[in-house]
Amino acid sequence: MSAIDPAFATFLVGLPKAELHVHIEGTLEPETIFRLAARNGVALAYESVEALRAAYAFTDLQSFLDIYYAGASVLLTAADFADMGRAYLARAAADGVIRAEIFFDPQTHTARGVAMATVIEGLTRALDEARAGGMSCDLILCFLRHLSEEDAFATLRAALPFRDAFIGVGLDSSEVGHPPEKFARVFAEARALGLHVVAHAGEEGPPDYIVQALDLLGAERIDHGVRCLEDADLVARLARERVPLTVCPFSNVKLRVCDRLEDHPLRRMLEAGLAVTINSDDPAYFGGQIGANYVETCAALGLDRAAAARIARTSLEASFVDAATKAGFLARLDAHLAATAGA
Ligand code: ADE
Ligand code: ZN
Repeated sequence: MSAIDPAFATFLVGLPKAELHVHIEGTLEPETIFRLAARNGVALAYESVEALRAAYAFTDLQSFLDIYYAGASVLLTAADFADMGRAYLARAAADGVIRAEIFFDPQTHTARGVAMATVIEGLTRALDEARAGGMSCDLILCFLRHLSEEDAFATLRAALPFRDAFIGVGLDSSEVGHPPEKFARVFAEARALGLHVVAHAGEEGPPDYIVQALDLLGAERIDHGVRCLEDADLVARLARERVPLTVCPFSNVKLRVCDRLEDHPLRRMLEAGLAVTINSDDPAYFGGQIGANYVETCAALGLDRAAAARIARTSLEASFVDAATKAGFLARLDAHLAATAGA
């Protein structure tokens, strides 16, 4: 582990940035899981916070997802979703996040009998409060790819009464064996509704899933995308088309996509000219928020201030906001860089 200069860490955490890849259910800390379980009378398979935390020794994506869905089972009321959203947004603001595009997995909740209205109203309450405090934030509804196309269609239709509460759709959960093409028709309907489109691809799945996400779903950003490096033609395309990749370094180490942060492909991705961003994915499970992801990744890979500023700039440029709002974000980043130059 490389030594981390405290001044560099302060600079990185303070960089105005966008978080474009965070699952709200993945922000539930073990303490909160136990508190909500007690509040709602939900039984947990773990005796204590420590026992739950000890189970966070993942071998791959599926071993994480099994625990992640169990953790989400404590969420029942709109107040639960609002509390979870508030806690994340407060931590994100402290890490320099000025724009958050937050994934939520409605099927995880509707399958347990929680109404779509409960999920969306609770989360919206938290986002509205954060907006009132100056944060820019929006929701992206993700379909669980291990479930059927029919289930995804039913979910999209159940969310339509709340169309104004989310800006886009995404695709997450177990990747291998569930290619993007399975959801081409659902995403076509979402696009026709004017929704933005993103998709997890190339985390554990092959580079071809990235191609499918672009060509068959119309994805505007790729979540993870690290396995693109196995296909030189795809790398050239992603660089040429400036497709943003929402990379999650801590996640990739915890889920064994790569062995150590020092081996993470992010540096090679930058060198290949890719539009790379840094994000936390599921911070309660993977050992740190977005700020820690910036700090430890830059230290492990020897990335300097200029490289980190470029990553933060890419995140703001890749956000789904209008041109004037984006120009305002970039001005805030430039002001921060000017104020911290030589510090
Ligand atoms: N759901 C939450 N985190 C995920 C990840 N890293 N990949 C796929 N689905 C997820
Ligand atoms: Zn993810």
